[in-house]
Amino acid sequence: MKKKVFYTVLLAASFIGCSQPNNGSSDIESKVDSLLSQMTIEEKLGQMNQLSPWDFDDLAKKVRKGEVGSILNIVNPDEVNKIQKIAVEESRLGIPLIVARDVIHGYKTIFPIPLGQAATFNPQIVEEGARIAAIEASSDGIRWTFSPMIDVARDPRWGRIAESCGEDTYLNAVMGAAMIKGYQGDSLNDPTAMAACAKHFVAYGAAEGGRDYNSTFIPERVLRNVYLPPFKAAVDAGCATFMTSFNDNDGVPSTANKFVLKDVLRDEWKYDGMVVTDWASALEMVNHGFCTDGKDAAEKSVNAGVDMEMVSETFIKNLKQSVAEGKVSMETIDNAVRNILRLKFRLGLFENPYIVTPQSVKYAEEHLLAAKTAAEQSVILLKNDAQTLPLTDKVKTVAIVGPMADAPYEQMGTWVFDGEREHTQTPLKAIKDMYGDKVNLIFELGLAYSRDKNVAGIAKAVNAARRADVVVCFVGEESILSGEAHSLANLDLQGAQSQLIKSLASTGKPLVTVIMAGRQLTISDEVEASDAVLYSFHPGTMGGPAIADILFGKVNPSGKTPVTFPRMSGQTPVYYAHNNTGRPANPTEMLIDEIPVEAGQTSVGCRSFYLDAGNSPLFPFGYGLSYTRFEYSDLRLAADKLTEVDKVNVSVNLKNAGNYDGTEVVQLYVQDKVGSVTRPVKELKAFKRVELKAGESETVTFSLPVSDLAFWGYDMTFGVEPGDFRLWVGTSSAEGLSADFSVIK
Ligand code: BGC
Repeated sequence: MKKKVFYTVLLAASFIGCSQPNNGSSDIESKVDSLLSQMTIEEKLGQMNQLSPWDFDDLAKKVRKGEVGSILNIVNPDEVNKIQKIAVEESRLGIPLIVARDVIHGYKTIFPIPLGQAATFNPQIVEEGARIAAIEASSDGIRWTFSPMIDVARDPRWGRIAESCGEDTYLNAVMGAAMIKGYQGDSLNDPTAMAACAKHFVAYGAAEGGRDYNSTFIPERVLRNVYLPPFKAAVDAGCATFMTSFNDNDGVPSTANKFVLKDVLRDEWKYDGMVVTDWASALEMVNHGFCTDGKDAAEKSVNAGVDMEMVSETFIKNLKQSVAEGKVSMETIDNAVRNILRLKFRLGLFENPYIVTPQSVKYAEEHLLAAKTAAEQSVILLKNDAQTLPLTDKVKTVAIVGPMADAPYEQMGTWVFDGEREHTQTPLKAIKDMYGDKVNLIFELGLAYSRDKNVAGIAKAVNAARRADVVVCFVGEESILSGEAHSLANLDLQGAQSQLIKSLASTGKPLVTVIMAGRQLTISDEVEASDAVLYSFHPGTMGGPAIADILFGKVNPSGKTPVTFPRMSGQTPVYYAHNNTGRPANPTEMLIDEIPVEAGQTSVGCRSFYLDAGNSPLFPFGYGLSYTRFEYSDLRLAADKLTEVDKVNVSVNLKNAGNYDGTEVVQLYVQDKVGSVTRPVKELKAFKRVELKAGESETVTFSLPVSDLAFWGYDMTFGVEPGDFRLWVGTSSAEGLSADFSVIK
């Protein structure tokens, strides 16, 4: 039944989509201009005002007077239709509202957090997840989501790393574009389409010390080479809106940063979408010490190129006077309103202001299935000694332990306003339901929640372990420990979780540790103590069934780390695409416990590393094992002297040399050996998921345009610098077959 409804909606949607005007057409531009010409300044400022209402009647009054252009955080479909009716039928010009919500990794059916989605290295499944989120959210009238967050995030202390696609520029660009396509569908005016919002523009992920909202100090070249490309990819993917960020970069808050909002976004990238502030980020420029008051903040924001203000109402309260005083031109206001009206026409809101998508799409079977597949592909096998996993028929009794084994709310992760714990399937429930008839299960939590320091239950968990053939221990982070404003200075497992793992290990029983978290944690000791380790960035509604099938071998893990795992917190930020120092570390460096007493000052060498942590991470970017074994051989370059218009054509033989069918994420990295400025030691340029049956081989090919090697060099121009390059094709950023080539003029 549900299946039928799902397809009916899609058909209805595409039918309605066909009957609407095309996106970005001159038809839309003339409608925008005609409407604009009828608007008073108050109505224009109303369109630029977005509210998150607490009081419906108060909101209704404002909407009736044309004082609101968009709302966020109303999700009751009756209320959404009611307020929209007031906008359309009772305001003077009948301009519909855009209803927004943070639909970040699913609406009702919750997908893995974006960091987990990035671990799939599968843009198709990410796009599908976003499409499903849009279908479900549109059934409550939501037509605008504040996603994707494509902030390159290299510091796990920053809680919002959960909401990003990790540390890599290219991966953020690919996954961000996939989400945008999914949310927006084939056409924005399909009633199941949601406008996407590329955020946070820009550099927010580089918050100093990983403390949220903190200042950033990113010079223009790094901004252009590392932080801006995912946003450019968002523009190219047709992203309908952009959001400014909370941080000040080099002293300029993003909400008033003309350089990024005008020079780059509008002039260089020719963006004709709409730009919204972050939540009260206009007014917060007073706290930054960048604006004297709300009026100054409003002026600086719109003059820098912001179109709509989220919640702090400085625009609507002040800009009429600012225009009268000549501090803001009418042209600036008109341009902002044009961008807003254009979006409303593109969304088809004038023709279809009310909800079309039926309620029954929520938690549709297909949605749950897609969420399960995404969760399966997001799980990373970090360790598997002596083939502890998958659990075989020899395993008769399994002890399920740990505070994350049955924590439906926590496994959904951050940014879940609408997902419901009642619909969430935990590992415990799934293992019982799916494998309960095949193995005996003993369940003993040990700890009540991830921060629990009460060790009284550990003895019982140990006792359960003693009675089992294998122990599976679920630890990690509650969802509140990551996400916005949830930064941490210490990345170790919270509470007594480490003690729990070590106590279980001391039983000598094979120990499988499953970690569900919002970021990469420092888990060296726990990995050491475990026989097998699975890492699952909060996996969402269907995390339980996905993990159950992985544990019992129905699904072979294929996720790869989208971030580098540090050994200890003080090592952060640590990321693979760093520049080289003049004194790179030697892998043989003497570490702290090996240094003799009264060692001579230079006896440990003068290299770039930490005496206690060394220089290598616990797990590199792009890392993840499989139950099977993949072998790479015979790397071939079609040509090793290329010009800027050529392609780097490279192939490698990949063999599934193990006993299980499996999927490998084949990764292509490039190093520009010498540049006009120092270049990263490696940069991910392409990847492919390759599925191979046990024993099967395939030739995997990449055709990388040489133009993809362009960067912003010493003279701040963008281009490929002729010279020598090295490429690697392999299983992670730390391994691979390599070949050299050069680019000639
Ligand atoms: C966040 C944004 C979010 C907005 C609206 C802000 O605090 O930084 O990412 O979209 O709130 O909820």
